[in-house]
Amino acid sequence: MRLLIVSGPTREKLDPVRYLSNYSTGTMGRYLVSAAKERGHHVEWVECPQRAESARDLDRLLPGLLKAADALIMAAAVADVRPAAYSSAKIKKDRLRSIRLVKNPDVLANLARKKTSRQVFIGFGLESKDLLANGAEKIRRKGLELIVLQKVTDGSTPFGEKAIDAVLMDAKGNTKAFASVSKKRLAGIIVRRAEEVFDSKNRD
Ligand code: CTP
Repeated sequence: MRLLIVSGPTREKLDPVRYLSNYSTGTMGRYLVSAAKERGHHVEWVECPQRAESARDLDRLLPGLLKAADALIMAAAVADVRPAAYSSAKIKKDRLRSIRLVKNPDVLANLARKKTSRQVFIGFGLESKDLLANGAEKIRRKGLELIVLQKVTDGSTPFGEKAIDAVLMDAKGNTKAFASVSKKRLAGIIVRRAEEVFDSKNRD
């Protein structure tokens, strides 16, 4: 397969020294790329923020790359909002009391509008509650065959190099839970699921 893998955190610039982002480290993405290559797939890797810094950069870059892909694995931690205005000069601290935010595009939902019937989309979801209901809603809204759901609470986050609890949910609502699974092992499982879904969609 030709796999398009997108990972890591976006950065949303406020001025030349400040940005808004999240705790994503891109670890899962690196394991996904290794697993896909080990299984002989061709990989196009978009690592944020190196190759695409912001949500809007992704929104511009990915539609062109999607055309050449059999499957998309969207593991990027896209910031949902960005500062409404970018200041090309450093903002003096005395003028920095509040930051007005505007909504970023939903990159995956936008790609879903360009998806062909032969392509496979796999997304990720972080939830503090209602994991399965929210997962099912994201599958619909973002045109996914599979979503990797992870719970995030104040005391437990899935960021970085650690074993995680995850639930894989497919478009029919079938779920498979993994307790304390390494990201390396989970990446291998995700790539094999992508292969299975791609095969079943492209059998004839
Ligand atoms: N995603 C995206 N563009 C965004 C936000 C998320 O493409 N602006 C993608 C992520 O890469 C992930 C999936 O959508 O594959 C779900 O991300 P998540 O942050 O869990 O969901 P949101 O759509 O941001 O919804 P909410 O904040 O309400 O949970």
